[in-house]
Amino acid sequence: MATRELGRTGIHTSPIGLGCMQFSAQGILSGFFSPMSQVDADVIVKTALDGGITLFDTAELYGRGESERRLAAGLTHAGIAPGEVTVATKWRPVGRTAGSVGRTIGDRIAALNPFPIDLHQIHFGFGGLSPVRKQVEAMAQLVAAGKIRAVGVSNFTAKQMATAHALLAEHGIPLASNQIQINLLNRSIEKNGILDTARGLGITLIAYSPLRSGMLTGKFHDNRDLVNAMPRLRRTVHGFNANNLDRTAPLIEAMREIAGVHRATISQVALAWLITNYGDTVIAIPGASKPHHAAEAAGAMNVALTAGETQRLTDISSVVHRNR
Ligand SMILES: NC(=O)c1ccc[n+]([C@@H]2O[C@H](COP(=O)([O-])OP(=O)(O)OC[C@H]3O[C@@H](n4cnc5c(N)ncnc54)[C@H](OP(=O)(O)O)[C@@H]3O)[C@@H](O)[C@H]2O)c1
Repeated sequence: MATRELGRTGIHTSPIGLGCMQFSAQGILSGFFSPMSQVDADVIVKTALDGGITLFDTAELYGRGESERRLAAGLTHAGIAPGEVTVATKWRPVGRTAGSVGRTIGDRIAALNPFPIDLHQIHFGFGGLSPVRKQVEAMAQLVAAGKIRAVGVSNFTAKQMATAHALLAEHGIPLASNQIQINLLNRSIEKNGILDTARGLGITLIAYSPLRSGMLTGKFHDNRDLVNAMPRLRRTVHGFNANNLDRTAPLIEAMREIAGVHRATISQVALAWLITNYGDTVIAIPGASKPHHAAEAAGAMNVALTAGETQRLTDISSVVHRNR
Protein backbone atom coordinates (compact mmCIF):
# COMPACT_ATOMS: atom_id res chain seq x y z
CA MET A 1 0.00 0.00 0.00
CA ALA A 2 1.27 3.50 -0.84
CA THR A 3 2.79 5.57 1.94
CA ARG A 4 0.96 8.59 3.38
CA GLU A 5 2.34 12.04 4.04
CA LEU A 6 2.08 13.42 7.58
CA GLY A 7 0.21 16.62 6.87
CA ARG A 8 2.24 18.68 4.43
CA THR A 9 5.58 17.94 6.08
CA GLY A 10 7.14 15.80 3.34
CA ILE A 11 7.43 12.96 5.89
CA HIS A 12 5.96 9.76 4.42
CA THR A 13 4.98 6.75 6.52
CA SER A 14 3.12 3.47 6.21
CA PRO A 15 -0.68 3.97 6.54
CA ILE A 16 -0.56 1.77 9.64
CA GLY A 17 1.98 2.44 12.37
CA LEU A 18 2.70 0.77 15.70
CA GLY A 19 1.43 2.27 18.96
CA CYS A 20 4.03 1.65 21.69
CA MET A 21 1.98 2.43 24.82
CA GLN A 22 1.97 -1.32 25.56
CA PHE A 23 5.76 -1.20 26.10
CA SER A 24 5.26 0.15 29.62
CA ALA A 25 2.97 -0.81 32.48
CA GLN A 26 4.21 1.85 34.88
CA GLY A 27 2.02 4.37 36.69
CA ILE A 28 -1.46 4.76 35.26
CA LEU A 29 -0.65 2.21 32.53
CA SER A 30 -0.65 -0.55 35.19
CA GLY A 31 -4.43 -0.15 34.96
CA PHE A 32 -4.29 -1.14 31.30
CA PHE A 33 -1.45 -3.57 30.57
CA SER A 34 0.83 -6.25 32.01
CA PRO A 35 4.57 -5.52 32.18
CA MET A 36 6.50 -6.34 29.02
CA SER A 37 10.19 -7.30 28.79
CA GLN A 38 12.64 -5.69 26.36
CA VAL A 39 12.95 -9.08 24.63
CA ASP A 40 9.20 -9.11 23.97
CA ALA A 41 9.25 -5.50 22.79
CA ASP A 42 12.14 -6.38 20.45
CA VAL A 43 10.11 -9.14 18.78
CA ILE A 44 7.08 -6.87 18.41
CA VAL A 45 9.15 -4.07 16.84
CA LYS A 46 10.93 -6.51 14.50
CA THR A 47 7.62 -8.10 13.47
CA ALA A 48 6.15 -4.67 12.69
CA LEU A 49 9.21 -3.71 10.64
CA ASP A 50 9.18 -7.00 8.73
CA GLY A 51 5.53 -6.38 7.85
CA GLY A 52 6.32 -2.95 6.38
CA ILE A 53 5.41 -0.65 9.28
CA THR A 54 7.57 2.51 9.29
CA LEU A 55 5.81 4.71 11.88
CA PHE A 56 6.26 4.19 15.62
CA ASP A 57 4.30 6.23 18.17
CA THR A 58 5.30 6.63 21.79
CA ALA A 59 5.09 9.30 24.52
CA GLU A 60 6.83 10.67 27.56
CA LEU A 61 3.72 9.72 29.52
CA TYR A 62 4.13 6.01 28.73
CA GLY A 63 6.19 5.08 31.76
CA ARG A 64 8.14 8.37 32.00
CA GLY A 65 10.21 7.46 28.97
CA GLU A 66 10.20 3.67 29.43
CA SER A 67 8.23 3.11 26.22
CA GLU A 68 10.53 5.51 24.33
CA ARG A 69 13.62 3.67 25.58
CA ARG A 70 12.11 0.26 24.74
CA LEU A 71 11.26 1.48 21.25
CA ALA A 72 14.75 2.88 20.62
CA ALA A 73 16.33 -0.35 21.87
CA GLY A 74 13.94 -2.44 19.75
CA LEU A 75 14.79 -0.50 16.60
CA THR A 76 18.52 -0.72 17.36
CA HIS A 77 18.33 -4.47 18.00
CA ALA A 78 16.50 -4.84 14.67
CA GLY A 79 19.41 -3.16 12.89
CA ILE A 80 17.53 0.03 12.00
CA ALA A 81 19.64 3.13 11.49
CA PRO A 82 18.53 6.61 12.59
CA GLY A 83 16.31 8.17 9.93
CA GLU A 84 15.16 4.86 8.42
CA VAL A 85 11.78 4.97 10.19
CA THR A 86 9.50 7.70 11.50
CA VAL A 87 9.47 8.14 15.28
CA ALA A 88 6.73 10.13 16.99
CA THR A 89 6.60 11.04 20.66
CA LYS A 90 4.59 13.44 22.85
CA TRP A 91 5.08 16.13 25.46
CA ARG A 92 2.69 16.00 28.45
CA PRO A 93 1.17 19.44 29.10
CA VAL A 94 -0.80 18.54 32.23
CA GLY A 95 0.32 20.64 35.21
CA ARG A 96 3.17 22.26 33.24
CA THR A 97 3.95 25.58 31.62
CA ALA A 98 5.02 25.89 27.98
CA GLY A 99 8.59 26.38 29.17
CA SER A 100 8.69 22.66 29.94
CA VAL A 101 8.53 21.86 26.18
CA GLY A 102 12.08 23.19 25.79
CA ARG A 103 13.26 22.03 29.21
CA THR A 104 12.24 18.39 28.61
CA ILE A 105 13.29 17.95 24.98
CA GLY A 106 16.76 16.80 26.07
CA ASP A 107 15.17 13.95 28.04
CA ARG A 108 13.08 12.91 25.04
CA ILE A 109 16.11 12.96 22.74
CA ALA A 110 18.08 10.93 25.28
CA ALA A 111 15.29 8.37 25.72
CA LEU A 112 14.98 7.85 21.95
CA ASN A 113 18.70 7.99 21.24
CA PRO A 114 19.98 7.43 18.54
CA PHE A 115 16.67 7.98 16.72
CA PRO A 116 15.69 11.55 15.92
CA ILE A 117 12.24 12.86 16.87
CA ASP A 118 10.44 13.14 13.55
CA LEU A 119 7.15 14.20 15.11
CA HIS A 120 6.70 15.81 18.54
CA GLN A 121 3.09 16.08 19.68
CA ILE A 122 1.34 18.09 22.39
CA HIS A 123 -0.41 15.19 24.13
CA PHE A 124 -3.60 17.01 25.18
CA GLY A 125 -5.36 20.26 24.37
CA PHE A 126 -6.16 20.72 28.07
CA GLY A 127 -4.50 20.61 31.47
CA GLY A 128 -1.54 22.87 30.68
CA LEU A 129 -0.60 25.85 32.88
CA SER A 130 0.11 28.00 29.79
CA PRO A 131 -2.27 28.65 26.92
CA VAL A 132 -2.07 26.26 23.97
CA ARG A 133 -0.76 29.21 21.92
CA LYS A 134 2.42 29.34 24.02
CA GLN A 135 2.87 25.57 23.85
CA VAL A 136 2.66 25.66 20.06
CA GLU A 137 5.18 28.53 19.94
CA ALA A 138 7.55 26.45 22.08
CA MET A 139 7.21 23.56 19.62
CA ALA A 140 7.99 25.92 16.71
CA GLN A 141 11.20 26.91 18.50
CA LEU A 142 12.23 23.24 18.69
CA VAL A 143 11.82 22.93 14.91
CA ALA A 144 13.86 26.10 14.38
CA ALA A 145 16.58 24.71 16.66
CA GLY A 146 16.66 21.45 14.67
CA LYS A 147 15.65 19.39 17.71
CA ILE A 148 12.50 17.94 16.13
CA ARG A 149 11.40 17.60 12.51
CA ALA A 150 7.66 18.24 12.70
CA VAL A 151 4.95 19.33 15.12
CA GLY A 152 1.74 17.46 15.88
CA VAL A 153 -1.02 17.71 18.45
CA SER A 154 -3.24 15.15 20.14
CA ASN A 155 -6.74 15.24 21.58
CA PHE A 156 -7.19 18.76 20.16
CA THR A 157 -10.64 20.08 19.21
CA ALA A 158 -11.23 21.33 15.67
CA LYS A 159 -10.87 24.92 16.89
CA GLN A 160 -7.62 24.24 18.77
CA MET A 161 -6.29 22.41 15.72
CA ALA A 162 -7.05 25.38 13.44
CA THR A 163 -5.40 27.76 15.93
CA ALA A 164 -2.27 25.60 16.15
CA HIS A 165 -2.17 25.40 12.35
CA ALA A 166 -2.39 29.19 12.00
CA LEU A 167 0.27 29.87 14.67
CA LEU A 168 2.73 27.44 13.12
CA ALA A 169 2.03 28.86 9.65
CA GLU A 170 3.39 32.20 10.91
CA HIS A 171 6.72 30.38 11.30
CA GLY A 172 6.39 28.60 7.95
CA ILE A 173 5.79 25.27 9.73
CA PRO A 174 2.89 22.98 8.75
CA LEU A 175 0.86 21.31 11.52
CA ALA A 176 1.51 17.64 10.74
CA SER A 177 -1.22 15.85 12.64
CA ASN A 178 -3.86 15.56 15.33
CA GLN A 179 -3.82 12.21 17.15
CA ILE A 180 -7.30 11.32 18.26
CA GLN A 181 -9.45 8.27 18.98
CA ILE A 182 -11.09 7.01 15.78
CA ASN A 183 -12.54 3.54 15.19
CA LEU A 184 -15.74 1.81 14.08
CA LEU A 185 -17.18 2.48 17.55
CA ASN A 186 -16.03 6.09 17.79
CA ARG A 187 -16.62 8.25 14.72
CA SER A 188 -17.05 11.55 16.54
CA ILE A 189 -14.54 13.25 14.16
CA GLU A 190 -17.31 13.15 11.54
CA LYS A 191 -19.57 15.35 13.70
CA ASN A 192 -17.30 17.59 15.76
CA GLY A 193 -15.59 19.31 12.83
CA ILE A 194 -12.22 17.58 13.25
CA LEU A 195 -12.43 15.60 9.99
CA ASP A 196 -13.56 18.59 7.91
CA THR A 197 -10.93 20.86 9.46
CA ALA A 198 -8.16 18.30 8.92
CA ARG A 199 -9.15 17.85 5.28
CA GLY A 200 -9.45 21.58 4.70
CA LEU A 201 -6.05 22.38 6.21
CA GLY A 202 -4.17 19.29 5.03
CA ILE A 203 -3.59 17.85 8.51
CA THR A 204 -3.28 14.09 9.06
CA LEU A 205 -5.43 12.43 11.71
CA ILE A 206 -3.55 9.71 13.56
CA ALA A 207 -6.16 7.25 14.83
CA TYR A 208 -5.41 5.94 18.31
CA SER A 209 -7.23 2.99 19.89
CA PRO A 210 -8.16 1.93 16.34
CA LEU A 211 -9.30 -1.46 17.70
CA ARG A 212 -11.12 0.19 20.60
CA SER A 213 -8.55 -1.33 22.95
CA GLY A 214 -9.28 -4.78 21.51
CA MET A 215 -13.09 -4.68 21.43
CA LEU A 216 -12.95 -4.64 17.62
CA THR A 217 -10.87 -7.83 17.48
CA GLY A 218 -13.87 -10.03 18.35
CA LYS A 219 -11.87 -11.90 21.01
CA PHE A 220 -13.89 -10.47 23.90
CA HIS A 221 -17.14 -11.33 22.12
CA ASP A 222 -15.91 -14.90 21.66
CA ASN A 223 -14.62 -15.30 25.21
CA ARG A 224 -16.18 -12.98 27.75
CA ASP A 225 -13.95 -14.36 30.50
CA LEU A 226 -11.18 -12.27 28.96
CA VAL A 227 -13.05 -9.15 30.08
CA ASN A 228 -12.95 -10.25 33.72
CA ALA A 229 -9.20 -10.85 33.44
CA MET A 230 -8.67 -7.27 32.20
CA PRO A 231 -7.58 -4.54 34.64
CA ARG A 232 -10.61 -2.59 35.89
CA LEU A 233 -9.41 0.80 34.61
CA ARG A 234 -9.11 -0.40 31.00
CA ARG A 235 -12.50 -2.13 31.29
CA THR A 236 -14.13 1.09 32.48
CA VAL A 237 -12.41 3.53 30.12
CA HIS A 238 -13.24 1.51 27.01
CA GLY A 239 -16.66 0.27 28.13
CA PHE A 240 -15.99 -3.46 28.23
CA ASN A 241 -19.28 -4.72 29.67
CA ALA A 242 -22.02 -7.17 28.68
CA ASN A 243 -24.27 -4.40 27.32
CA ASN A 244 -21.64 -3.06 24.96
CA LEU A 245 -20.55 -6.52 23.85
CA ASP A 246 -24.19 -7.39 23.03
CA ARG A 247 -24.76 -4.08 21.25
CA THR A 248 -21.67 -4.42 19.08
CA ALA A 249 -22.11 -8.12 18.25
CA PRO A 250 -23.82 -7.48 14.86
CA LEU A 251 -20.85 -5.35 13.79
CA ILE A 252 -18.38 -8.05 14.82
CA GLU A 253 -20.40 -10.65 12.89
CA ALA A 254 -20.32 -8.53 9.71
CA MET A 255 -16.57 -8.02 10.18
CA ARG A 256 -16.09 -11.76 10.65
CA GLU A 257 -17.92 -12.43 7.39
CA ILE A 258 -15.87 -9.87 5.46
CA ALA A 259 -12.67 -11.16 7.06
CA GLY A 260 -13.53 -14.65 5.79
CA VAL A 261 -13.79 -13.37 2.21
CA HIS A 262 -10.32 -11.78 2.44
CA ARG A 263 -8.72 -14.61 4.47
CA ALA A 264 -8.05 -11.93 7.04
CA THR A 265 -8.84 -11.44 10.73
CA ILE A 266 -11.53 -9.27 12.32
CA SER A 267 -8.82 -6.92 13.62
CA GLN A 268 -7.46 -6.49 10.11
CA VAL A 269 -10.91 -5.59 8.80
CA ALA A 270 -11.23 -2.94 11.54
CA LEU A 271 -7.89 -1.40 10.55
CA ALA A 272 -8.50 -1.70 6.80
CA TRP A 273 -11.82 0.14 7.24
CA LEU A 274 -10.08 3.03 9.02
CA ILE A 275 -7.43 3.59 6.36
CA THR A 276 -9.95 3.15 3.54
CA ASN A 277 -13.05 4.96 4.76
CA TYR A 278 -11.33 8.30 5.40
CA GLY A 279 -8.92 8.14 2.46
CA ASP A 280 -5.42 9.53 2.94
CA THR A 281 -6.44 11.73 5.88
CA VAL A 282 -6.17 8.92 8.45
CA ILE A 283 -3.21 6.82 9.60
CA ALA A 284 -3.92 4.16 12.25
CA ILE A 285 -1.58 3.20 15.13
CA PRO A 286 -2.80 -0.06 16.73
CA GLY A 287 -1.04 -1.21 19.89
CA ALA A 288 0.39 -4.71 20.25
CA SER A 289 1.12 -6.76 23.35
CA LYS A 290 2.01 -9.88 21.32
CA PRO A 291 3.99 -10.37 18.10
CA HIS A 292 0.97 -11.68 16.20
CA HIS A 293 -0.84 -8.39 16.92
CA ALA A 294 1.95 -6.51 15.13
CA ALA A 295 1.94 -9.02 12.28
CA GLU A 296 -1.81 -8.64 11.82
CA ALA A 297 -1.58 -4.86 12.00
CA ALA A 298 1.00 -4.82 9.22
CA GLY A 299 -0.95 -7.36 7.18
CA ALA A 300 -4.05 -5.16 7.31
CA MET A 301 -2.32 -2.85 4.82
CA ASN A 302 -2.83 -5.64 2.25
CA VAL A 303 -6.55 -6.11 2.94
CA ALA A 304 -8.31 -4.31 0.09
CA LEU A 305 -11.92 -3.79 1.17
CA THR A 306 -14.37 -3.14 -1.65
CA ALA A 307 -16.43 0.05 -1.64
CA GLY A 308 -19.47 -2.11 -0.81
CA GLU A 309 -17.78 -3.75 2.17
CA THR A 310 -16.54 -0.40 3.49
CA GLN A 311 -20.04 1.08 3.22
CA ARG A 312 -21.63 -1.95 4.87
CA LEU A 313 -19.34 -1.58 7.89
CA THR A 314 -20.00 2.16 8.03
CA ASP A 315 -23.76 1.54 7.95
CA ILE A 316 -23.72 -1.12 10.69
CA SER A 317 -21.41 1.04 12.77
CA SER A 318 -23.93 3.90 12.51
CA VAL A 319 -26.76 1.65 13.75
CA VAL A 320 -24.62 0.39 16.62
CA HIS A 321 -23.95 4.02 17.55
CA ARG A 322 -27.64 4.92 17.53
CA ASN A 323 -28.35 2.01 19.87
CA ARG A 324 -25.99 3.41 22.48
N1 LIG B 1 -2.85 10.26 22.15
C1 LIG B 1 -3.52 9.62 23.07
O1 LIG B 1 -4.14 10.21 23.96
C2 LIG B 1 -3.55 8.11 23.01
C3 LIG B 1 -4.47 7.39 23.80
C4 LIG B 1 -4.46 6.00 23.70
C5 LIG B 1 -3.58 5.36 22.84
N2 LIG B 1 -2.69 6.08 22.10
C6 LIG B 1 -1.75 5.43 21.14
O2 LIG B 1 -2.50 4.55 20.31
C7 LIG B 1 -1.97 3.23 20.38
C8 LIG B 1 -3.08 2.21 20.24
O3 LIG B 1 -4.16 2.46 21.13
P1 LIG B 1 -4.65 1.40 22.23
O4 LIG B 1 -3.54 0.56 22.65
O5 LIG B 1 -5.41 2.19 23.24
O6 LIG B 1 -5.77 0.57 21.51
P2 LIG B 1 -5.91 -0.46 20.30
O7 LIG B 1 -4.77 -0.36 19.37
O8 LIG B 1 -7.27 -0.24 19.82
O9 LIG B 1 -5.88 -1.88 21.05
C9 LIG B 1 -4.70 -2.50 21.41
C10 LIG B 1 -5.02 -3.78 22.18
O10 LIG B 1 -5.86 -4.61 21.38
C11 LIG B 1 -5.46 -5.96 21.47
N3 LIG B 1 -5.01 -6.40 20.13
C12 LIG B 1 -4.29 -5.69 19.23
N4 LIG B 1 -4.14 -6.39 18.08
C13 LIG B 1 -4.78 -7.55 18.26
C14 LIG B 1 -5.01 -8.69 17.44
N5 LIG B 1 -4.54 -8.73 16.19
N6 LIG B 1 -5.71 -9.72 17.95
C15 LIG B 1 -6.20 -9.67 19.20
N7 LIG B 1 -6.03 -8.62 20.03
C16 LIG B 1 -5.33 -7.57 19.56
C17 LIG B 1 -4.36 -6.04 22.49
O11 LIG B 1 -5.00 -6.26 23.74
P3 LIG B 1 -4.31 -7.22 24.84
O12 LIG B 1 -3.03 -6.52 25.20
O13 LIG B 1 -5.31 -7.27 25.95
O14 LIG B 1 -4.08 -8.54 24.18
C18 LIG B 1 -3.78 -4.63 22.45
O15 LIG B 1 -3.16 -4.26 23.67
C19 LIG B 1 -1.22 3.18 21.71
O16 LIG B 1 -0.22 2.19 21.73
C20 LIG B 1 -0.65 4.59 21.80
O17 LIG B 1 0.54 4.69 21.03
C21 LIG B 1 -2.69 7.45 22.17
